[in-house]
Amino acid sequence: MAKPSHRYVCQNCGAVYPKWSGRCDSCGEWNTLVEESVEARPGPVAKAAPGKRVAFVGLQGETAPPPRAATGIAELDRVLGGGLVPASAVLVGGDPGIGKSTLMLQAAATLARAEKRVLYVSGEESVEQVRLRARRLGLADAPLELASAINVRDIAATLEAARDVALVVIDSIQTMWLDGVESAPGTVSQVRAAAFELIRLAKSRGFALVLVGHVTKEGTIAGPRVLEHMVDAVLYFEGDRGHQFRILRAVKNRFGATDEIGVFEMTDRGLAEVANPSALFLAERRGNVAGSAVFAGLEGTRPVLLEVQALLASASGTPRRAVVGWETGRLAMLLAVLEARAGLRLSGLDVYLNVAGGLRVGEPAADLAVAAALASAAADQPTSAGTVYFGEVGLSGEVRQVAQGEARLKEAHKLGFDRACLPRRLARGGARPTAPAALELDEVGHVADLVAAFAAESVRAA
Ligand SMILES: Nc1ncnc2c1ncn2[C@@H]1O[C@H](COP(=O)(O)OP(=O)(O)OP(=O)(O)O)[C@@H](O)[C@H]1O
Ligand SMILES: [Mg+2]
Repeated sequence: MAKPSHRYVCQNCGAVYPKWSGRCDSCGEWNTLVEESVEARPGPVAKAAPGKRVAFVGLQGETAPPPRAATGIAELDRVLGGGLVPASAVLVGGDPGIGKSTLMLQAAATLARAEKRVLYVSGEESVEQVRLRARRLGLADAPLELASAINVRDIAATLEAARDVALVVIDSIQTMWLDGVESAPGTVSQVRAAAFELIRLAKSRGFALVLVGHVTKEGTIAGPRVLEHMVDAVLYFEGDRGHQFRILRAVKNRFGATDEIGVFEMTDRGLAEVANPSALFLAERRGNVAGSAVFAGLEGTRPVLLEVQALLASASGTPRRAVVGWETGRLAMLLAVLEARAGLRLSGLDVYLNVAGGLRVGEPAADLAVAAALASAAADQPTSAGTVYFGEVGLSGEVRQVAQGEARLKEAHKLGFDRACLPRRLARGGARPTAPAALELDEVGHVADLVAAFAAESVRAA
C-alpha cells in the first residue's frame, strides 16, 4: 500500500492530519498545521532481538532523596523546589526577549563558579554574542564551557564522552536539529526527537538538563506544549515587557511543588532577585485614589501584596469588561453578585480592572479586594491607604474564609499597613488568625456591608 509521503502536524499540540486545514480540530488553534515529511519506519519487527525481562521491585528500598545542586540564584532554586536535580530535564519556556537566555546564563555561570562542570550550548546565538552578554552581566570570568551548535548528533557524542557534568543548558530546543528526521528545526517532529535524545542522555549520564523553549502564538515554531510531557519540570518565565519585573513560575514539577514563584527584576546587569516582591509591586501606588485596593495575596508559600485597580466609565453602547491580571469570568461573577446582593448598579458602565505591575492573580481570595476596588470606584471614595483586603466572595454575597490568613496579615504589617479587611470568623470552631498587635482587623460577613460602608463614606463627604 502506498503511504502518503507528507502529513500535516499541528505545531501547537502535535496532532497529525493527512490534509491541511486552517484550524486544528484537536486543540482548536488556527493556522498551526505545517507540512512535514513522514519519517522512515524502522525495519520489520520480526528481525529484532527478543525483549529482555523487566525486573520489578518493591516500593521500599535504598533511595536517597534527590541530591540537588543549588544554582545559587535563590529565586530560581525556590521554583525548582530546592535546586536542580541530577539526571532530570527542565523546560524553561517564555515569550521572545523575556530574558530566558539571561537567566540561564546567570544560573549556569553561578553554578560553574561553584566548581561544577557546566556546558552551555547555544543554537541561537554565536559564541561572540553569548560572550558579549556574559561581559555585560559581569560573568565573563566564570569557568563555563560554551559552544554554539545545533546538531544533536554532535552534541550527544560530546556529552557521551564528557565526565562529571553537572548541568547542560540547551538554548533553545527549537534550534536543535537531528539528522534522520526530515523536517525543519523547530517543527514538532524535530523538537520532539531532539528533546528525546537529549533527555535520554541526561538520564543515562546523570546531568541536569535545561531546555530553553519559545512560546509563540503564530505556530511557525513548535510550542513547547509537546515537550511538557517529556520533561520533569516546566518553568514559565513571564512578565510584561513594559514592566521591569519577571515572574518565574513552575507549572509542572516532578520533584517539588508547583505553586512557587520566583520574582526577578530586569536590569542592565541582568536579572536581579527580588527578595521582597510586595514592596516592588506597591512601589508606585498612590493613596487617596478611588478604585484602588491592596490585596494581601499568596503565591505559593509566599505572601505578596498587590494593588487592584478598578475604573468605571459610562458606556456608550454595550458595556465593556476589560481585565488585566485576573480572570474575566471571575469578574463577571463578582459584578453579578455586587449587583444582585449588594445593590451596586454597574450595568450601564464600562468596567476596567487591572492588577498593577503585571502579575496574574489566580486566587479566589482576591474577590474581596476586587469588590472593594469596585465599590470604592462606584462611590468615588478612596479605600484607606493603610488597609489590605482578602477573602473569597460566594454567590450569595457572603465573604468566605481563605487559607493562610496569618501569613497575609504578617506581610501587611511588615509593609506598614495598619488595617486588614478580612472574612468574618466562623461562629463555631473558626479560629481567627493571630495578627500582629498593631494591625486592626475589620471582619466583613457580606459584600453588602462593604458596599454600604463606601456609600456611607460618600454621603458623609458630600
Ligand atoms: N544592554 C542591555 N541593557 C539592558 N537590558 C538589556 C540589554 N540587552 C538586553 N537586555 C534585556 O535582555 C532582554 C533579552 O534577554 P534574553 O536574550 O535573555 O531573552 P530571551 O528570552 O533569551 O530571548 P530570545 O527568545 O530572543 O532568545 C531584553 O528584552 C532586554 O530587556
Ligand atoms: Mg535567548
